[in-house]
Amino acid sequence: MAKSLVLALGLALTDLSTAISIDEHGAIAGETGFEAAQANSLAIEDAFAAAQDSQDDRVVEIPAGSSYYIYSSTLANLTDVTFKIDGELIVHDTLEDWPDENGLYVFGFTDMNGLIITGNGKINGQGHDWWVAVAKTDIAHNYRPNMFEMLRVTDCVIENFTTMDSPHFNFHMKDMRNLEIRYMTITTDWRKQEEILKEHGLFDFDLNIPMFPFNTDGFDPAGENIYIHDCEIENYDDAVAVKPSSDKYNIQCTKNVTVENMKIRYGVGMSIGSVSANSHHDCVDDVVFRNIEFEKPFKAIYIKTNPGGEEGVDWGSISNIVYENITIESPVWYAIYIGPQQMKEPDGAGTGCMAYPFGGGDENCPTNPLVPIVNVTLKDVSISGGVTPGVVRCDEAAPCTGFVFDNVQYTSWASRLEGWICENAEGDEHMVQPKNCLA
Ligand SMILES: *[C@@H]1O[C@H](CO)[C@@H](O)[C@H](O)[C@H]1NC(C)=O
Ligand SMILES: *[C@@H]1O[C@H](CO)[C@@H](O)[C@H](O)[C@H]1NC(C)=O
Ligand SMILES: *[C@@H]1O[C@H](CO)[C@@H](O)[C@H](O)[C@H]1NC(C)=O
Ligand SMILES: *[C@@H]1O[C@H](CO)[C@@H](O)[C@H](O)[C@H]1NC(C)=O
Ligand SMILES: *[C@@H]1O[C@H](CO)[C@@H](O)[C@H](O)[C@H]1NC(C)=O
Repeated sequence: MAKSLVLALGLALTDLSTAISIDEHGAIAGETGFEAAQANSLAIEDAFAAAQDSQDDRVVEIPAGSSYYIYSSTLANLTDVTFKIDGELIVHDTLEDWPDENGLYVFGFTDMNGLIITGNGKINGQGHDWWVAVAKTDIAHNYRPNMFEMLRVTDCVIENFTTMDSPHFNFHMKDMRNLEIRYMTITTDWRKQEEILKEHGLFDFDLNIPMFPFNTDGFDPAGENIYIHDCEIENYDDAVAVKPSSDKYNIQCTKNVTVENMKIRYGVGMSIGSVSANSHHDCVDDVVFRNIEFEKPFKAIYIKTNPGGEEGVDWGSISNIVYENITIESPVWYAIYIGPQQMKEPDGAGTGCMAYPFGGGDENCPTNPLVPIVNVTLKDVSISGGVTPGVVRCDEAAPCTGFVFDNVQYTSWASRLEGWICENAEGDEHMVQPKNCLA
């Protein structure tokens, strides 16, 4: 079992009684509007600078009982600082006040070492208007702020607070080393999202599934030595998506990731990917998902490749992935999906894997021989309800190998589809119901 990073790294939660309140740096509680939001985000940056300069006062505090509008804060090159969010932060949601560009964030942390983000507070992303704008294609779907954007952060603990209704990803984290995330709550008003999709023709009423995701993922980490545990996530996209790393980063392959003791409502799975074939070699290795409860997920066990790439030049890889002790109750669509994925964008671009095998079948949802999937174990997986046991689709030219399905039980599904859809997957089955997915 992964050891707590706080213990492993000897990170001490600093004495929080001497925190630097953002009020001391010009923050204005209780005021709405762009000016207040900008002032408050600047106050947060200033408070971090003060913490970095202080000998003994290295905690930036959002005081309990206060509420602040915020915009965007950029933090870089700080060491051993703590961000204690006890109050409420509300993200300014007048879209015109945000730049019309990619790469937006509410909190951007880059080149940090020894970062703790803690507290019992809440960040309200007010994503609603962003979701509508994307559904209407008023803005490009990536031109929305992520709640947390992190790059090259080492020795990091994120714990205890709540994020809700993020405009885009909640936590997007690249090149992370030694990261522990625990006791977090992520919520998304998925009912609202569903309503928006239905209003804008992005919902398949026949299959009862959304045809477009809002990318309000929970945690999307890439890096090494990552431990995520004891969190609750309710959203309408990937709960945890372990992302590949590549030779573009210090850490060239995402590895040694453990995700355990998690409760997921709705959500599009505990996922790996998407992994593409490219010249930088997307790579994910050594990931364990354990003790996970899913309630009504769209997908639960989810490993996805992207199409494309040039043979001999481009490749990606996915290896040594374990899902153990997984309970999946009433999946809305696939309980298990291992294979090609690409979402249809609102403008109609992209392949139609969302509804596979409906809507075009194999030709619209091609497997990728340049991204082999090797050594995947599913152990003690119990699925009740839903429409299909699952899909495992690998390429004829590069079959999936080293798969083990041990005690994978699928009971009481409404047989809209007959059994598994499995192609070119090799390995051993033991106590699998229904049988005969792996050759
Ligand atoms: C952090 O500091 C290093 C060394 O000075 C510098 O190369 C890097 O660009 C800084 N990072 C950011 C995000 O400013
Ligand atoms: C975070 O939550 C855990 C579990 O509820 C609790 O034990 C711990 O004291 C909390 N930490 C802080 C700094 O409040
Ligand atoms: C894997 O990560 C955990 C933290 O999640 C760490 O305790 C452990 O030492 C790491 N293992 C290796 C081989 O680095
Ligand atoms: C399986 O996971 C559940 C939580 O989903 C947990 O309560 C139970 O103890 C786990 N079983 C084992 C054998 O670890
Ligand atoms: C797959 O597992 C086998 C047996 O444990 C191991 O020998 C092999 O190196 C693994 N493959 C990869 C790509 O890690």
